[in-house]
Amino acid sequence: MAQRNILITGGAGFIGSHVVRLFVQQYPQYTIINLDALTYAGNLENLRDVEQAPNYRFAKVNILDIPALEEAFQTHEVTDIIHLAAESHVDRSIVSPLDFVYTNIIGTVNLLNAARQYWSADPGKHRFYHISTDEVFGSLGAEGFFTETTAYDPRSPYSASKASSDHFVRAYHETYGLNTVVSNCSNNYGPFHFPEKLIPLFINNIIEQKALPVYGDGLYTRDWLYVKDHARAIDTVFHQGKPGSTYNIGGFNEWKNIDLVKLLCKLMDEKLNRPAGTSEQLITYVKDRPGHDRRYAIDASKIKQELGWQPSVTFEEGLSETIDWYLANGHWLKQVTSGAYQHYYESMYQQR
Ligand code: NAD
Ligand code: DAU
Repeated sequence: MAQRNILITGGAGFIGSHVVRLFVQQYPQYTIINLDALTYAGNLENLRDVEQAPNYRFAKVNILDIPALEEAFQTHEVTDIIHLAAESHVDRSIVSPLDFVYTNIIGTVNLLNAARQYWSADPGKHRFYHISTDEVFGSLGAEGFFTETTAYDPRSPYSASKASSDHFVRAYHETYGLNTVVSNCSNNYGPFHFPEKLIPLFINNIIEQKALPVYGDGLYTRDWLYVKDHARAIDTVFHQGKPGSTYNIGGFNEWKNIDLVKLLCKLMDEKLNRPAGTSEQLITYVKDRPGHDRRYAIDASKIKQELGWQPSVTFEEGLSETIDWYLANGHWLKQVTSGAYQHYYESMYQQR
């Protein structure tokens, strides 16, 4: 296999850290450059086990800083990109939409421009892989699935910014011949997930015996995928995806929020040796998220048929492993929930 210097943006975040780990361990002949600004969501603790690997590099760079981006391309002689850096939390996008415009739209265009310039001799030779979300498709009713040809209909500032960045990536393929590929994935869960998102926030609150704030009627539906299966899908699409194509990635695993929360409560009671029903008493219905998308569900048959990828971990296994990881890594949870997190939690939840 050819030598490649792959720039992975957002590699210190939740999904990015799993992708960096997989590539560093699976492809010793590649050099993996983790480029990350280390925002509140980025944490080098997520990569302690691979940071000494001879094929791993780290560059603390903000994708809004054009000269620093260009320098990173030169220094590391970048041959390919997997772009995950983003502002990723819907609730934060409702409070501060401009942060999402800057990083998700302008940051992505900065990266496209740097790639186009650095690879100008042969733009089609180098892969530019953009990681996106199923939220760009909007909200489903009780029936149906998102396919690769579903029209975009973003409904939150987060999904609008991701939709915009997807359009730019495709435009750079059509206009400048960049070898792009885009994947749109459903909700991920697993180790190193920042506890602002449903599953890790509720695990942390159950440990601390704090209220579990369920938005609205709790009947919103998400399609959950274990993060290591997403990392495997990214590996597959990076190596085999057709230039200019899009792939939907999902878990074939829909859950209504309230059912998922009840399952989590049951498993946590068992693992913490608490009497059955203890954690369910913490469930508290709170004010809904504005513009809350009712249901997401991915039809992931294209990636299965064309590239042979499908999820390998059942939800029961994945959720159980995830809880075990959080229980065994209390120091990680303590570190990320100290300081600024407390302020975030109070401001996000006190008005609900
Ligand atoms: P995350 O919030 O955990 O991590 C984002 C990472 O990007 C952090 O390390 C952060 O420091 C970095 N970053 C943010 N702004 C930056 C900037 N301006 N310059 C450089 N680095 C910056 O996000 P995640 O959940 O791991 O999501 C990763 C990607 O996958 C995102 O593009 C997201 O839209 C997409 N995605 C996420 C999910 C999910 O369920 N989490 C599902 C589908 C798609
Ligand atoms: O679908 C993919 C998307 O999944 C990604 O693109 C996003 O980056 C990721 O954050 C996630 O978005 P969601 O909004 O679906 O995830 P979140 O964990 O924030 O919420 C999941 C569901 O749980 C949603 O219906 C809102 C609800 N919820 C969430 C929180 C944080 C609650 O009821 N209470 C909460 O406190």
